Amino acid sequence: MKHTLNDVVDHGRIAVCCGSGGVGKTTTAAVVAIEGARRGRRAVVVTIDPAKRLANALGLDELANEPRRIDPQRWDPDGDRVAGGELFAMMLDTKSTFDGLVTRYADSPAQSQRILANNFYRNISGALSGTQEYMAMEKLHELHEDGGYDLIVVDTPPSRHALDFLDAPARLLRLLNNPIFRVLMVPTRTYLKIAGAAVQAFIRTVSRVVGAAVVDDIVTFFRSFEGMEEGFRTRAARVVEILKQNETRFVLVTSPRRDAIEEARFFAEQIGNHELAVDALVVNRVHPRFGTEMSAGLRARAASLRELEFSRRTEQDARDRLAARYQNLAEFNEIAERERAYIETVRVRTRSAGVAFVPYLPHDVHDFTALAEIGRILFAPADIQANIEARLPGSGE
Ligand SMILES: Nc1ncnc2c1ncn2[C@@H]1O[C@H](COP(=O)(O)OP(=O)(O)OP(=O)(O)O)[C@@H](O)[C@H]1O
Ligand SMILES: [Mg+2]
Repeated sequence: MKHTLNDVVDHGRIAVCCGSGGVGKTTTAAVVAIEGARRGRRAVVVTIDPAKRLANALGLDELANEPRRIDPQRWDPDGDRVAGGELFAMMLDTKSTFDGLVTRYADSPAQSQRILANNFYRNISGALSGTQEYMAMEKLHELHEDGGYDLIVVDTPPSRHALDFLDAPARLLRLLNNPIFRVLMVPTRTYLKIAGAAVQAFIRTVSRVVGAAVVDDIVTFFRSFEGMEEGFRTRAARVVEILKQNETRFVLVTSPRRDAIEEARFFAEQIGNHELAVDALVVNRVHPRFGTEMSAGLRARAASLRELEFSRRTEQDARDRLAARYQNLAEFNEIAERERAYIETVRVRTRSAGVAFVPYLPHDVHDFTALAEIGRILFAPADIQANIEARLPGSGE
């Protein structure tokens, strides 16, 4: 079945917005959540590191690791939303999420205190690579299990490794199953004695490099987790399930630039490897195309204009100016044509996905007015969206 963004907003329970750095994931996530709320859903957008001005617009000026309700006045000034529509937003704060998990799932306040005070924990909880992705998953789990939302829109971190986000639960499971982790979890001081030779050698090497105190911190850290390990394991497995559910939708965002397109193709492939599918493709910041004439024709026109002979200086100047305009237009449309060709290479890999286009706007997107403008374009009736597409070269001509 061909999913479209409308389907994502109407029937999705979770919408994951992914794509390479800077293409418009956060913007798209916010717009999708707003549209959901406009259509009467109780929607929440989990943003990751939004630009400061957008964070301000969403009411996230202070770090808010819990969803905040946004006054409908701000996202629906005309009051034409469907009854029941609500919008919440939160900004993921990796460290607070991790601290929250520890406090929530520790067996006793003493255990959570021990972990929160541990040096190793304090160093890794915010900084360890992959922690952000993993915490986004934990947050998704929390909102899904007991948030009471109909639509959870998840923004993803700008990641050079395309699908760190999807792989985070599996990676955690691998870590928990790792022999070194198992040894570190042994709740006695005899961990070195019972460890295999390879693990002993490893720990000794690490001690030499980073110092015995650090290793002690690490060992204490893992041992403090005793009893919580199972919970991490269960939730990680549950998140994998949630992502495979029928009501989970993947929105792949890309810009039509070559590097972004290459990454988008890679994302599509990886999503497929996880037995998931891209449900909607958003091509953001597309250059419009002026007129229907191809760039080669415009270029030829510029060349033949330059060959015209005029006797008067003013006529020659006018001719040169006109030729320069044609040249300009040819170059601009060439960019648009190239973009269209790039986009095609993603479309063939996301065949089942509906596609929506957003033009390059002459301004940044950091307030509800601009978000509403993008919303009107993304959720425009099919004929209007088709029109945006038709203005791209290679189609409708
Ligand atoms: N169609 C558009 N036209 C013009 N500017 C846009 C458009 N869409 C987004 N922007 C601007 O581009 C910038 C990047 O957008 P955004 O933050 O949504 O991308 P992102 O994919 O979340 O980035 P990151 O990977 O860094 O998280 C923002 O400043 C945003 O306002
Ligand atoms: Mg972002």
